[in-house]
Amino acid sequence: MNVAVLCSGGGTNLQALIDAERAGAFPHAQIALVGVDRDCYALERAGTAGIPTVTVTSADLLAALEGAGIDVVVLAGFLAIVPPEVTRAYAGRIINIHPSLLPAYGGKGMYGLRVHEAVLAAGETLTGATVHLVTDTIDGGDILLQREVDVEPGDTPEALQVRVMHEAEWEILPQALAELTADLAQRGKEKQ
Ligand code: GRF
Repeated sequence: MNVAVLCSGGGTNLQALIDAERAGAFPHAQIALVGVDRDCYALERAGTAGIPTVTVTSADLLAALEGAGIDVVVLAGFLAIVPPEVTRAYAGRIINIHPSLLPAYGGKGMYGLRVHEAVLAAGETLTGATVHLVTDTIDGGDILLQREVDVEPGDTPEALQVRVMHEAEWEILPQALAELTADLAQRGKEKQ
């Protein structure tokens, strides 16, 4: 089963997936492609791991995925719009990592540091990350996994972001991909 990971930033979630694959977490799948919508450090990580890369726009994303024989798509900090033709073609086989306990602090405009700034501004003592299926509703698909993370007194948005990555994102994204690909392999429903 071929997996594409779509990124726009540092690629630390991509790195967690690469490391998990090396550790044998995805016996039914391999990361076959890294797609980016801009120049970003995720490209370096893919290059070091020997994974093919492609620069995409929302308009050519489906063609790039199908052209590479992709069965499962992972959004890992991808900031371009994923068009309905992609969410339909990959319904049930496209997942996203979001740095909050959805549905809280999700939706339009809530990404990256903005999420942690909003969590701190609201005085939350608990936050975390969520892996969910991707639909046409931003951050609206079925939740697959969540992991809670404490907000510490005096946290800056940056410090909270790093803790949520370390303690939640980098754990649950590989776990969710392992579970999804095992389930799909069992059901034999790879992309026809
Ligand atoms: C992470 O904060 C993730 O929660 C969000 O975008 C960021 C991606 O970071 N979806 P990286 O590119 O994986 O380091």
